[in-house]
Order: sequence, then C-alpha cells, then structure tokens
Amino acid sequence: MYAESVNAPEKFWAKQANEQLVWRKPFKKVLQWKPPHAKWFLGGKLNVSENCLDRHIGTARENKAALIFEGEPGDVRTITYRQLHFHVCRMSHFMENLGIKAGDRVAIYMPMIPEAVIAMLACARVGAVHTVIFGGFSAEAIKDRINDCQAKLVITADGGWRRGKVIELKANVDKAVAGAPCVHSVMVVKRCGNPVTMVEGRDVWWKEAWEGAPNYHDAKAFDSEHPLFILYTSGSTGKPKGVLHTSAGYLLGAKLSSHYVFDLKENDRYFCSADIGWITGHSYVVYGLLSNGSTVFLYEGAPNQPEPDRFWQMIDRHGLTILYTAPTAIRAFMRWGDNYVLRHRLDSLRLLGTVGEPINPEAWMWYHKMIGKKKCPIVDTWWQTETGSIMVTPIPGVTPTKPGSATLPFFGIKPMVVDSDGKEVPRNSGGKFVITQPWPSMLRTLWGDDERYKKAYFSEFPKHPHYYFTGDGARQDKDGYFWVIGRIDDVLNVSGHRIGTAEVESALVSHPAVAEAAAVGKPDDLKGQSLVVFVTLKSTATASEELKEALRAHVGKEIGSLAKPDQVRFAAGLPKTRSGKIMRRLLKELATNGSVKGDTTTLEDFSVIAALQSDE
Ligand code: WTA
Repeated sequence: MYAESVNAPEKFWAKQANEQLVWRKPFKKVLQWKPPHAKWFLGGKLNVSENCLDRHIGTARENKAALIFEGEPGDVRTITYRQLHFHVCRMSHFMENLGIKAGDRVAIYMPMIPEAVIAMLACARVGAVHTVIFGGFSAEAIKDRINDCQAKLVITADGGWRRGKVIELKANVDKAVAGAPCVHSVMVVKRCGNPVTMVEGRDVWWKEAWEGAPNYHDAKAFDSEHPLFILYTSGSTGKPKGVLHTSAGYLLGAKLSSHYVFDLKENDRYFCSADIGWITGHSYVVYGLLSNGSTVFLYEGAPNQPEPDRFWQMIDRHGLTILYTAPTAIRAFMRWGDNYVLRHRLDSLRLLGTVGEPINPEAWMWYHKMIGKKKCPIVDTWWQTETGSIMVTPIPGVTPTKPGSATLPFFGIKPMVVDSDGKEVPRNSGGKFVITQPWPSMLRTLWGDDERYKKAYFSEFPKHPHYYFTGDGARQDKDGYFWVIGRIDDVLNVSGHRIGTAEVESALVSHPAVAEAAAVGKPDDLKGQSLVVFVTLKSTATASEELKEALRAHVGKEIGSLAKPDQVRFAAGLPKTRSGKIMRRLLKELATNGSVKGDTTTLEDFSVIAALQSDE
C-alpha cells in the first residue's frame, strides 16, 4: 500500500477519499499543487460533522458509546453516537440563531468534557471555524488569539477540575474578552459550579441555549477546502502561528491514519491523554476516531489525582484497549514507581502509542514491559500541528519497531533528511527533516499571514521550493528508519509542548524591570527540555529571588503556566555577535554544561560569557 501511495499518489488519495469519506458531491480533481499552496479534492462537497456522526446513525453503531467521560472528581458519563448527534444538532441550531455563519470564527476554551467535543462538532456542522485554546493559556494569550482570528463567539465553562482545584476558565475569558471587541457572545457550560459573572446580553448558559433548540439539524455541505479550524502554535518569532486546516483533506488524513495506526476494531475503547487544545486532541480524540465510529474515552483531570495510578485505574475500570500518550507522561509514571502500575491488571490493553517528542529507549522499554506487559505493540508517531495527521509511524503488527525511532513514513508521505542545500544526506548522517510532496491533511496557510507561511515552511531550500521544512532535525538509519532528533529552530519542546523562545523573551521584556532576555532549552530527564532564561535588568531594577519569582509569574500571566521558566538567571550582559544578534547557542551550552567550549569567534565581547560562567 505504501508503494502504491507514493508511486501514484493522486490515484491512491482519490481511492481513499471515496472509500473513507461521505461525500454530498463528488470531487472532480484530486490535487492542485502550486507550491507552496495545495488544494485537495476540488469540486467536492461534504460536511465534517456528518462524517463523524450522521454516517453512524441508522447503523449498528448508533447505540454504541461515542464518548465515555470520566471527570476528575470521578463522575462518569457515557454518550452514544445517537446522543452525541442530538447534542451537536441542538448546539448547531443555537449557534446559527446567534448569527454564526459559515466561515465565522469561534473560540473554544474548555476543560476535557464532552461539551468541548460537542462544541467542535457543532462548529464543523455549521461551517464555523473553531480555534480551540488550551485551558492552560492565560487571559492575555486568549485575547491575542481571539483578536488575531476575530472570533465572534467564545465557548467556555465556569471552570475545570485539575488536581482537586477549580481552574477558573470563565474568569479568564472575561478578562480576555474585555480586550477583544470582536466577541459578541460567550456560551458557558456549568461544570464546577464555581461563581461566575454573567454579562447580560453577551453571556448565555449552555444548558439554556440547549433547551430551547430543536433536535434535528439539517447540515449543509461545504467545499472540500472550506476552513475547518485554526490552531495556534509556537514558531520562531514572538507571535503564535495560526495554522489553518481545511475540511476534506484534513479529515481524510485523520481518519485513515487512525484506522491503520491504531488498527481500530469495532469494540475498541480508545484513550488518548492529550487535551483537545492540542492537535493530538483534534485529530486523535475527535475527528479521526469519531469518523471511524470508535468509542473514545475522555478524562478531564491530572494523571496523579488523587494518586499517581489514576490512568491505570481508569484503564481497568472502563476496559480501555488503546492508550496514546506522551513520552513526558511515561517518564513521570516511571518516576512515580512501578508499584502504582502493579496494583492494576491492565489486561484490556492491546496497543500503545506515543507522540509529542522523541522517546528515549529506557522509557520505551518501560512502557513496553510495565504497561504493555510485552504483548502490546508500541506506535511511536511523529507528526506536527502543521501536518494535521501522523506522518511517520510503525503499522502495528507489520513494522518491526526499534525503541526511539518512529520508523517509516505513513501512506502517501515522502520524508527526507537533507543538507542545507536540500540534497539528501547519506544514511546515518544527521540533517534537516523535510517532506517532499504534498499530502491531504497538510496545513493550507497561516491565518491572515500567507507570507509567513511561505517563509516558515517553504523557503529553507530555494532550489526545492516544494519541500516542506518541518523545523526538526533527523537521521535515517541503514534500514531506512527515521530517527527524529528534535527541533532545530528556536522552538523548544517542554513536556511535549511547543514553546517559542521568542514568545517567552517578548513576555519577559514586557516586564518593567527587564532590559533584555534570552530563552534557551536545557536537556531535562523528565520534561525532555527545560526552559532557562537569561535576563539583563534595567538600571532601575535590582536582582533578587523575589524578582525571579515575579518574572516567572509574569510569563505565566502573559502566556500561561506551561511557559513559566524553570530557571531565571540574571546577567550583566548577553553574548552577542558583532551585528548585535544574541548568541543563544552559547547560552544553551552554558545552561547545559556550565561553561562554553564552542566556537566564540563571532562573539563581540567575551567578558560577557566569562562573567556568566563565573556566576554559575
Ligand atoms: C516533536 C504534536 C520525535 C517534533 C503532534 C515536532 C516528535 C513537534 C514526535 C510537533 C515523535 C512530535 N518523535 N519528535 N514521535 N512527535 N515530535 O505541533 O519536534 O505540538 O516538530 O504536534 O513535536 O509538535 P506539535
């Protein structure tokens, strides 16, 4: 199938699109590729929510559980496909009555509860473009995202449970919306019952909205290339990038990969621990799984609440068969100790997956032995927000695995490891990781900034303007297996979350005490990378432990707690080139090794590094 898929990609994708998706109007042309812009399945029309819901109604699946939800306090809800369809229909009506039209943007800032999935599918049903904002982002970050895409409606909850505490989501939305005049309406799910302020004429309770709406909703069909969602992600400059995905191609990528990579069976109960605020939640909690008619398990809270065996308990309690999680979580489980695992049977599990960062072989082996009891295949899946669906992965039961390698490309995907000219490097040499031909679920552009799209992804190799540059470094071994090493741009991967160094730096310099800042990653056993920032202060400010704490809190306020630096270091000056560029490479070396041995010939003033070294 792989050979077929890359030798005659258009034929392959046409066949898959016809077999996997429900079309209202067949497409006429498979691909229009004018690098760097691709359009897939031109002339076709479909509705993404119909593909996730209506197609299962009237079949043996209609009374099957679509979602099994467990809240952090232990509350459980099961929602069948029929019920999910009913909820989504009602919400779709309500959104249309609010004046939401096809193409309008809707922001979703919610805990991991069924209403989050319902909200996404209702957007898809009415053709509105959702942008899900992870619950860990701050009011400031929400405001920026809402303003960037000019969202009219925000869907949120009073709060969400995390480690026994209520995260006050609605309060954050209130602060954000105060600076976002584009928002007309805010819809609020009552989840925790914490007090919230409802603004007359703007805010409405989900339940009230839902109660007034009819049960049936006739979904319109939209063009294959109709925008489905925007998801903001960190890039090399300060402003997050609004990655745009469209309908048919994205859905096909998510559906086909879910089917093959998780080897889905009718009675699977699938658990992906990613939040729907990330791409993994979009493709492998919602769209890929529901379009396949699978049962998806949703968990609201923290993995160590009330104790570090919560996942294992839930796997036994619900008979979950597939677990898809991140290496950083696996390393945390290892650290918490085997005893938490050994209390549970875990005999329902048959397949394990990982995503988000390279997995170290020790963690892979632990996952294999301790969780998989040596009988579950592990799929280490490499992909990105931009790729929409899994790009490099084993096919379970087919591809022999090697711990630490995501192995081989998925159908239709042609990756390559190249040098700076775009020439393929010999086997076992490191290089830049590129994808050399378009695929249906690729991003289409960056919202409102097509120039940045070209620059970020298609400008690295001027001789090969059709090569998509991933931002990662990789090598291919003698068997052709890919080993992705990690980001080679100014993006860090902290606990599987992408954090742009420039975003953190601009948050820091917005603090009145800070003159200049540089953020770098330092290898970390648990998080993969930890975030170290070097800060020079204005002459009016004095260095102190309190100020370090204040700066961490400030980054938390500007971006969200996920971006809070692990370490703040004050410096008299930052190392710069003669042209005035901060040499982050040296700071990274300094943070990692405590000293600098690398090439310092372009450094303007060595005394800066000397001072930082003696500081250590
Ligand atoms: C990294 C997450 C090694 C990589 C779906 C990529 C990985 C970035 C793997 C995308 C993996 C993801 N092995 N590295 N299996 N999966 N990455 O956009 O650096 O949040 O570029 O998408 O995570 O992160 P994003």
